[in-house]
Amino acid sequence: MKKIIYFLLFLGFVGTSIFSISSCKTSAAVKEKTGAVLWSENCSRCHYSPDPEDYNDAQWEVIVMHMRVRTGLTEEESQKITKFLQDSN
Ligand code: HEC
Repeated sequence: MKKIIYFLLFLGFVGTSIFSISSCKTSAAVKEKTGAVLWSENCSRCHYSPDPEDYNDAQWEVIVMHMRVRTGLTEEESQKITKFLQDSN
C-alpha cells in the first residue's frame, strides 16, 4: 500500500515538472513576437494603428522612441517595431 502512495507522489512530482516546463515555453513564445504583432498589439491602444507608409525611416526612429515611453515597451520590443515599420514603408 505504501508503495502505491509513493508512486502517486512521484507521478504528482513529474506532472508538476512537466507543467512548469510547458509554462516556460509560453513565455519564450511571447519573446518571439514579431515587430508586426507588437505593433498591432501596442500601437492601437491609444489611437489608430499608424500606417507604416505615413512616415519615413528617420521619422519612425524618433516616433517609436517617443511612443516607447508612453507604451512601456522594452528596448528589444521597440527595436522590433521600428524595424517592422521601416521595412514596410
Ligand atoms: C499610452 C498611449 C499611446 C500608445 C500606447 C502609443 N501612442 Fe502614439 N500617440 C499618443 C499620443 C497622446 C499622441 C499625440 C501626442 C504626441 O505626439 O505625443 C500620439 C501620436 C502618435 C503619432 C503621431 C506623431 C506626430 O508627430 O504626428 C504616431 C505616428 C504614433 N503616435 C505612433 C505610435 C506607435 C508606432 C506606437 C507603438 C509603439 C504608439 N504610437 C503607441 C499616445 C500613444
